[in-house]
Amino acid sequence: MTRLVAPTVELHRSWLESRDEWGRDVFQHGSGMSDAYDLDSVEDFADWVELLRRRSDTSVPADPGFVHATYWWMVEDDAYLGAITLRHELNDFLLDAGGHIGYSVRPSARRRGLASWALAEVLVRAREIGLDRVLITCDDDNVASARTIERHAGVLEDVRDTSLGRTRRYWIAL
Ligand SMILES: CC(C)(COP(=O)(O)OP(=O)(O)OC[C@H]1O[C@@H](n2cnc3c(N)ncnc32)[C@H](O)[C@@H]1OP(=O)(O)O)[C@@H](O)C(=O)NCCC(=O)NCCS
Repeated sequence: MTRLVAPTVELHRSWLESRDEWGRDVFQHGSGMSDAYDLDSVEDFADWVELLRRRSDTSVPADPGFVHATYWWMVEDDAYLGAITLRHELNDFLLDAGGHIGYSVRPSARRRGLASWALAEVLVRAREIGLDRVLITCDDDNVASARTIERHAGVLEDVRDTSLGRTRRYWIAL
């Protein structure tokens, strides 16, 4: 069964297998990965998982430059398949380029409807935290992500040059 779970150290091995599929230094949208951690290390992985969990805790202030965000992992049986994050609000960078929601699916699990399924789940959770619309962005040439957003009724506001490059910006009403 496929489900969204909070980041957990129990999936370290599977997460590393996925990371190796992507390539060691490849950016994974919506994963919260950071160069500050050696994610091969059990201790650093645990610290990183703890950081991801803490970022959703609205009872503590967000780190400088960050907004509160909830991270989930897409999991099937005990296999890590992808990540999706919901940022609880927009700052200037997120409004211009990053959006509320980011996601990525490991290469071997693509084109099975996972991103579409996960986005549908997270749209429900966005509504639960009080958002009435979400901004989702993707690179102008990212056909797969644009399709994922459009099948959830994303309305294209514009395509603009941002710090992330040429960016498609869609709003989804909740
Ligand atoms: C974008 C990404 C998350 C899509 O994940 P996925 O699980 O393969 O997507 P789905 O299977 O749910 O497919 C969603 C839609 O995209 C289409 N699609 C998926 N991969 C595609 C591809 N390579 N080329 C064209 N269309 C594609 C599907 O046909 C589907 O469209 P449909 O509903 O019209 O049939 C995945 O390709 C990925 O992780 N890419 C790298 C990271 C990234 O770009 N993240 C998004 C940043 S904004």
